[in-house]
Amino acid sequence: MSGKSLNIGDQFPNFTADTSEGHIDFYDWMQDSCAILFSHPADYTPVCTTELARVAALVPEFQRRGVKPIALSCDNVESHKGWIEDIKSFGKLSSFNYPIIADDKRELALKFNMLDKDEINAEGIPLTCRAVFVVDDKKKLRLSILYPATTGRNFDEILRVIDSLQLTQTKSVATPADWKQGGKCMVLPTVKAEDVPKLFPDGIETIELPSGKSYLRITPQP
Ligand code: BEZ
Repeated sequence: MSGKSLNIGDQFPNFTADTSEGHIDFYDWMQDSCAILFSHPADYTPVCTTELARVAALVPEFQRRGVKPIALSCDNVESHKGWIEDIKSFGKLSSFNYPIIADDKRELALKFNMLDKDEINAEGIPLTCRAVFVVDDKKKLRLSILYPATTGRNFDEILRVIDSLQLTQTKSVATPADWKQGGKCMVLPTVKAEDVPKLFPDGIETIELPSGKSYLRITPQP
């Protein structure tokens, strides 16, 4: 049994849920912001605790980019509230600044295909894997990643992808391997040679290649 697979560009379905900050309608909670929804196998687990503390420390970075974080774990609100005290203690946080969805019935885990059949709890029920969804302000899915339960996520990488998404939304560039904010970018293959001077008035560098094709076109970050 599984839910519908979501692809990049799909409308992210709305849902309602109980969270550590009360009942929410996901779209209403997002308002006009983007969102990062990230799931966890269970409360009171070591890797998840480090991840939730890391995201709490990064909330100002997400806010600067207009992105609201929301976590999901397969336990109830009461359990989340108790666990938040451990996360605050571990992360040396004075407060906890984003909601955790209570998906103890696995309804959202099923709806969004987040169940990991290799991660089974004490009752033999599958837990959620470490899924990451970035949803834009038009409620479209822009990024989807799945990690195994045993590997904590790198949230600096997720911020890097959000920076790339926001840059490439408005400029005719793509970002190369290991790009960071301010680094060189690649001119999109769809940009015609005759349009380059207008779009990139400071000039571009075209790398010569054995194929003789001119597709590696580098520009400072616009
Ligand atoms: C953890 O968060 O540490 C964890 C949870 C489930 C399986 C493995 C690790």
